[in-house]
Amino acid sequence: MITRRTALKAGVAATSVVGTGGMLLPVVNATAKEPARAAAAELDAAGITKFAQKMPLPPVLTPYLNTGSTSYYRMTLKEATKEIVPGLRTPLRTFNGSFPGPVIKAESNRRVVIKQTNNLAVPTSIHLHGAHVPQDSDGSPMDLIPSGGGTKTYTYPNTQPHANLWFHDHAHHMESENVFRGMTGTYILTDDVERRLPLPAGQYDVPISLRDARFLENGELVYAMGDFMKRNVILANGRAWPYFEVASRKYRFRLTNTSNQRFFDLSLADDSELVQIGTDGGLLPAPYRTNVVKISPGERADVVIDFSRYPVGTVIELRNKDIAPFESADVVGKVLQFRVTRTAPDHSSVPERLRTLPALGTATVNREFDMRMDEAPGGSAYINGKTYDMDRIDTEIAYGATEIWTVHNSNKIAPHNFHMHLVQFRVLERNGQPVTSGPETGLKDTVPLKPGETVKLQATFTGYRGTYVYHCHLFDHGAMGMMANMRIS
Ligand code: C2O
Ligand code: CU
Ligand code: CU
Repeated sequence: MITRRTALKAGVAATSVVGTGGMLLPVVNATAKEPARAAAAELDAAGITKFAQKMPLPPVLTPYLNTGSTSYYRMTLKEATKEIVPGLRTPLRTFNGSFPGPVIKAESNRRVVIKQTNNLAVPTSIHLHGAHVPQDSDGSPMDLIPSGGGTKTYTYPNTQPHANLWFHDHAHHMESENVFRGMTGTYILTDDVERRLPLPAGQYDVPISLRDARFLENGELVYAMGDFMKRNVILANGRAWPYFEVASRKYRFRLTNTSNQRFFDLSLADDSELVQIGTDGGLLPAPYRTNVVKISPGERADVVIDFSRYPVGTVIELRNKDIAPFESADVVGKVLQFRVTRTAPDHSSVPERLRTLPALGTATVNREFDMRMDEAPGGSAYINGKTYDMDRIDTEIAYGATEIWTVHNSNKIAPHNFHMHLVQFRVLERNGQPVTSGPETGLKDTVPLKPGETVKLQATFTGYRGTYVYHCHLFDHGAMGMMANMRIS
């Protein structure tokens, strides 16, 4: 068990920034680096040519060993330089030199073991978001892999149904910058329930990581805590505004929002149908036909688009409709362009029933959580009035308990979302209305909360005992303190 003292030491060694009371100060850390770069000007996102580069697919990682029960992988965290904006080179913190990181394909009830070697200059902690894992493999904020060659082996039992998971850095107070600089990857967990459905598969099943970023004209990323207003370059699979060539048939897109703070409301330029089939914790009970798919930071959406309605030669944009008053639709309103370049046979279909969810159970404990941040610059962020303290247990949970958590965003301007480690939960109510249809009927691990909103969640805490975090998944907010510990014992 790593204590607060050793965790701080590891952090301090890499950043040399300690504030009063021994708190790591990521804001200082981030801005302290900026003067060296001040010579290069800010890159103007409006000036970047849209849809000029092809969207790459992240590499699928191969295990170095497969036994009867387990697949073994190795990954190395290292610096790498990539072309994100055409013609510019961007230094990144990566898994294995890829951006976004590689894809792991896992199966329920078959273990995955990953040895991570940290060759970065900063400590890290690798968290598998949405996974049901023992505490020592959860990648908790204080369980750091030292920089400069430190290693840690994570064991993922995969004792949960299929789900679209993702992994990212979670080092205390540094996750926000580490993730911004590239430390994310995709983890697709499948099972027989999912596999036997006739959904689009193989090359027609495409993972896409969406996020925003901010650059200098020399290609370097600019990270400064809370500067979401300047992060206006939209990336799909690590490229700024790419295009993707498709056949005129159905595709399945597994979307992950890896942004720091950006919410996406995705729709096609002609507002035609998107079929959302899944969410954080796997397939929905039934497909949800809509013209807008919403994902807040950390959330996933599994979406089928049928391009057979477009003749070959059609070009159609995927757009973002969540545009702030200070933003331009010609910039952050654009995401990705599909080009229908060929025909292809299509034997896939989307069944009207996709899965049966596990029984809800009867809740015996009710709790309330208030999420709030200081909206003036330089402030803190709180859950139930407290900023995160890794040594404080905020919520004591009896092993096996089923609980209802009512979570409220009491900010007037700032949106939040709420993410719990260890469990997939259910959304019972949103703003007093029962959730009976749509994308929140599935298993969730992250829910958005616009200002003033309230959600009622139900979770059962079983499988592992230990201390896990819950937090706002707008990374800057989490790093500002909007995080807390729950202990299941
Ligand atoms: Cu995406 Cu605490 O996690
Ligand atoms: Cu998580
Ligand atoms: Cu928040």
